[in-house]
Amino acid sequence: MARRRPGCFRPGRVAFYYCLSFVVLVLVVNIVILHHGFTEMEAGGAMSPEEASDINALDENGQLRLKIVNEVGQYNILERRHRKLMVNAVENYDDGITEGSHFTSPLLNCHDIANLSDLVYLASGWTKAVYRGNFKGRAVAIKIVDTSGQDVTTCTKNGMLFETCLEKASQKILKEISILQALPHDNVIKVLGFCVPDQEVGITRHSKVAMVTELGESVDLIKLLQMSWEDRLRISLDITNLIKFLGDTPYGSMAMNDFRRQQFVVVNGQLKLSDVDDAGFGDPSCSHDEECSLQCSSSNFTYRMPCILGICRGFNKKRNTYNAGRHFTTFLLPHGAPSSLRPLVDKIVSGYSSLDRSQETLADELEEVVLLYKTGWYLGSDTERNKKTEYAVYENRDLPGMFDYRCRFSISGSGCTVSVFDRKEAEELCDKDPECSGFVLSSQRTWTGRIVIHLKNGFKEPTRSTHTHLYIKPSLVTNSSH
Ligand SMILES: Nc1ncnc2c1ncn2[C@@H]1O[C@H](COP(=O)(O)OP(=O)(O)O)[C@@H](O)[C@H]1O
Ligand SMILES: [Mg+2]
Repeated sequence: MARRRPGCFRPGRVAFYYCLSFVVLVLVVNIVILHHGFTEMEAGGAMSPEEASDINALDENGQLRLKIVNEVGQYNILERRHRKLMVNAVENYDDGITEGSHFTSPLLNCHDIANLSDLVYLASGWTKAVYRGNFKGRAVAIKIVDTSGQDVTTCTKNGMLFETCLEKASQKILKEISILQALPHDNVIKVLGFCVPDQEVGITRHSKVAMVTELGESVDLIKLLQMSWEDRLRISLDITNLIKFLGDTPYGSMAMNDFRRQQFVVVNGQLKLSDVDDAGFGDPSCSHDEECSLQCSSSNFTYRMPCILGICRGFNKKRNTYNAGRHFTTFLLPHGAPSSLRPLVDKIVSGYSSLDRSQETLADELEEVVLLYKTGWYLGSDTERNKKTEYAVYENRDLPGMFDYRCRFSISGSGCTVSVFDRKEAEELCDKDPECSGFVLSSQRTWTGRIVIHLKNGFKEPTRSTHTHLYIKPSLVTNSSH
């Protein structure tokens, strides 16, 4: 696509556009200066002066221009917050501490963090070490610099002073605090507090920069593949909603420059982005369409985008979509999907790999899958479903701790616990499984509202239970026994 030229201005609007261009130029120069703090640490694109002059060359796309102006303004605010955090960290070198109370009201301050109990080491990445801790009975995660981690050691091996390396690593945590707080979303880990303490003997002030967040569980391939289809559907919906949100933040689209499963955790079954120290804002700059190609090495596929107003517009969105598909949806969704939902699932998966649909469309399609699943549409017509059961029914009965057996995709570790739309689906499952003698229908519900059942491989006199009903295969009981 050719770059737009000033010659396309509509004559009557020239003066207006010149004024607007001047305002945009001032804003963009401003942001270029203020960007310094984040861009030093990030690999992602931010606006350059060339892009600023390209924005001046606008002749149409008024909406787009206003959007860019707005994003630049918002990014200014984010950058100022971040700088304040950094300045406070420096000021407090001599006389105090910086606590987690600058722009929201996090729960924990330096004192709280110092007094967290039951600290247990959980994991490390490139820069940070993560611990589990306890704050007044609530389990939380604490992130600090991993002083013997790859980041600091590579830095010192390159000849830098240990203190300098520590400071650089600490700044990444400060950046993470700023960004996480600026992006409140269900699928972004919540910051519960932070602390930048004063100096310590022999070490810099940055030695104990700490951030406290919700506690999650690490995400890895094996865990994901062992999940039930319903839980994998939830992860797919989460990642889809997340990239949609990150594609349009008030600060511009977010570039997830280090998109790997390790940067996410699961909190109560919900996927959350946890590591944002490599993130950047704004699509990359360009002067030709050729610079806006997204090379997808793993699939030998190249997606081309236009260079509009000096920016590869939509680049971050497409890149995040492609990576979300590669690391999550493509292998999570198809396997185990109900057959009637397969065409829609395949369409979504192909949208992720060919990048032919917007993030909004993908999110809508996934919502539709969730709806068809939770309403039982995927099971077919209702008439059969309401037929009277031939199973022996024991109302308010259970077989607790008895006749449990392991099965694939169980949502509990020990027994065979699965979710069903209704009693009929539970019977169909049990009928298909030669080991199954019956099932306990519980009052527990999954995230989509489906009923949790426990399959059993034996039967004896059941015990009383207020909220569960026991169903036993007709072949195993005589009519007189129930
Ligand atoms: N909130 C959390 N709860 C539990 N584990 C976490 C949490 N955040 C991160 N982790 C684990 O710690 C690892 C390192 O954290 P991360 O922020 O990714 O650090 P790095 O920037 O060094 O990669 C992650 O891969 C993840 O397994
Ligand atoms: Mg990480």
